[in-house]
Amino acid sequence: MSDLKNRTALVTGASKGIGAHLASALAAAGAAVVVNYRTDAAGAQRVVDDIVAAGGQALAVQGDVGQRADVEAMFTAARNAFGPVDILVNNAAVVAFAPLSALTEEDFHRQVDTNVLGPLLTMQAFAAQDDLGRSASIVNISTAGTSTHPPFSSVYVATKSALNSATRVAARELAPRGVRVNAVAPSASDTDGTRAMGFPGSPAAEAAVAEIPLGRLGVPEDYGQVVAFLASDAARWITGEVLFVSGGQR
Ligand SMILES: NC(=O)c1ccc[n+]([C@@H]2O[C@H](COP(=O)([O-])OP(=O)(O)OC[C@H]3O[C@@H](n4cnc5c(N)ncnc54)[C@H](OP(=O)(O)O)[C@@H]3O)[C@@H](O)[C@H]2O)c1
Repeated sequence: MSDLKNRTALVTGASKGIGAHLASALAAAGAAVVVNYRTDAAGAQRVVDDIVAAGGQALAVQGDVGQRADVEAMFTAARNAFGPVDILVNNAAVVAFAPLSALTEEDFHRQVDTNVLGPLLTMQAFAAQDDLGRSASIVNISTAGTSTHPPFSSVYVATKSALNSATRVAARELAPRGVRVNAVAPSASDTDGTRAMGFPGSPAAEAAVAEIPLGRLGVPEDYGQVVAFLASDAARWITGEVLFVSGGQR
């Protein structure tokens, strides 16, 4: 178990799915956690209640990561509750699959605003904290799709490939301040979001599992310990890495 005592973590998109589990995993490792959500206040509050019931510290904060004012308000709320944010996990994303023929500008901007502009704005706000400690760390949630390039994912996978590049650039840019920036690339997974899309059990899920050597969809619990490790001092010599946590899918 990684040690994140006396650290403050902000997890974007933590009202459900992988983000909810990441918030719980970071809290279990000792961090005080800000649970960001966009629309699902009840889901975020459940995550907070579970963390507090387990003896941890957490706070739900509404905000759209693609809106600068919301991002700044999130960091202010975090600071007021727990002090500077030491750990930023960019998990919030819009996942939409469609053939090229159905691509619309509206859908492009919706995914880019959340999946690329969002992490850039949060990394900017994170780096703007002038009292960051030397253990500061960012973990961006990417996808194994940046290697497998599944059909019907041109916009989504393009946003995550951009996120991988932004991760590597930010790692170099923030390294002089001791800030580490890494990404985790999950496999196709069974989450609230993919359930709402009818993915688990579908022919598309069967095709994805056929490409995963360990032979199943991921689940949120596959990712928490890895993100906690990357956020911890145990990973102090790792930065600019995109780590595939994907049952071998790549
Ligand atoms: N599931 C997979 O198969 C899979 C595979 C590879 C990578 N990933 C990545 O893993 C991460 C989590 O995926 P998931 O399937 O767990 O997602 P999910 O269940 O659909 O949950 C998405 C979360 O993101 C939040 N969100 C969406 N837009 C937002 C915005 N503009 N500002 C703030 N929060 C926003 C949602 O908040 P509200 O519900 O409160 O609106 C929700 O908490 C994503 O980065 C995704 O790309 C997933």
